Amino acid sequence: MHLTNTLSSLSLSASLAVSIYTGLSTADVYDGGCKGNNPVKLRIGNGGAGQSGLVKVLADTFIRNQTDDCNDTSGIFKVEWVKGDTTETINNLKAKTIDVGITYHKTAESIAISNGFASGCKYKDENSTTPCFGSDCKDHIERPCYTFRDHFYLAGPKNNTAGIKDEDDIVETFSKLYNAAENGTARFLSRYDKSATNIKDSELWIGIGQVPWAIAYSKWYHQYMDYPIQALKAAITLHEYTVTDRGTFLTLGNQDKSLTDKIQIYKRGEDYNELLNPADIIIAAKSENKAVAEEFVQWVLSPQGQEVIVNFHKDGYCLYRGFPTDDDDDLEATDCKWELS
Ligand SMILES: *[C@@H]1O[C@H](CO)[C@@H](O)[C@H](O)[C@H]1NC(C)=O
Ligand SMILES: *[C@@H]1O[C@H](CO)[C@@H](O)[C@H](O)[C@H]1NC(C)=O
Ligand SMILES: *[C@@H]1O[C@H](CO)[C@@H](O)[C@H](O)[C@H]1NC(C)=O
Ligand SMILES: *[C@@H]1O[C@H](CO)[C@@H](O)[C@H](O)[C@H]1NC(C)=O
Ligand SMILES: *[C@@H]1O[C@H](CO)[C@@H](O)[C@H](O)[C@H]1NC(C)=O
Repeated sequence: MHLTNTLSSLSLSASLAVSIYTGLSTADVYDGGCKGNNPVKLRIGNGGAGQSGLVKVLADTFIRNQTDDCNDTSGIFKVEWVKGDTTETINNLKAKTIDVGITYHKTAESIAISNGFASGCKYKDENSTTPCFGSDCKDHIERPCYTFRDHFYLAGPKNNTAGIKDEDDIVETFSKLYNAAENGTARFLSRYDKSATNIKDSELWIGIGQVPWAIAYSKWYHQYMDYPIQALKAAITLHEYTVTDRGTFLTLGNQDKSLTDKIQIYKRGEDYNELLNPADIIIAAKSENKAVAEEFVQWVLSPQGQEVIVNFHKDGYCLYRGFPTDDDDDLEATDCKWELS
């Protein structure tokens, strides 16, 4: 933390960073544009996709899908977004304060399913990613419902002091970064706040057998607790390597392209599974809204739901891809661009 102190001009207070994700809170309620004081029939727990606005578009489109565009006056309902990271969302599911969770950690989700308080989707085998609904799925296995893909980037200074090459895989990349960091020619910035990004960068270091945060005074592992945009700005200004997510990179690039032009993306989640951030839905096994929750999951994984996901954009840029279908015929975005221009 000594580095954070010396760099205080760039750093916001830690409590600000932490407050992004703490506590059970109804962040927002969506009505699909239907009039009336309609009851909430679905509560969705999630962090990042709630903040980006994806949860709102999914909720609004789902309500309209289920109510003939608000015409089915007896069945109109609202959807609530309950803000929480993966751990909080799984706890909320267990406490039945939400009906579905959109989460980012397959192991934690699978434990929730085997503990009996969450349920997933049916798949024909361990490798299948296209879910099965209905009565034909009897011999299928249950797994978290793979819903969409988000992407991380490894970015760093343009002069590439770590010597990362295009052909390097992720292990080779982080080994080089480690060597350069140890010989004093590279530094790495981590948000160090238990965010999905921080959990990802920790996994990547553990993947090469290193735990730099366990060393009291690492010269190069920069713990920088802050909002994603601020953390990326700091990495750029300080010429440090960092792991960031695609949405953060695009948002900053759109605010100030001259800043993102100063950093190079060395590895992308589009090309490496280790940098892919799959989002799954799990369902509260015994919630009173279980029927609506199951309808919602089936709809999100249907062509109409996937179309909402792939065309969801901010400032013209697509943020997400759908789940990878077994026959590789994933929907393409028609309303947004993938690369910064
Ligand atoms: C609702 O979504 C389902 C699944 O994508 C689709 O088959 C159906 O046509 C949609 N209905 C309406 C009214 O939009
Ligand atoms: C809903 O009702 C409006 C007004 O009566 C009508 O114009 C519209 O076509 C209806 N939509 C659907 C999906 O039934
Ligand atoms: C799933 O994929 C793995 C790795 O490619 C393979 O070894 C395994 O046999 C596959 N399982 C099935 C049921 O196809
Ligand atoms: C790389 O760029 C940084 C920032 O401009 C500079 O401090 C450093 O000396 C450069 N390293 C090499 C090896 O060029
Ligand atoms: C530091 O490590 C990097 C990455 O392995 C390497 O390219 C560079 O030559 C090393 N520099 C020194 C001074 O040892």
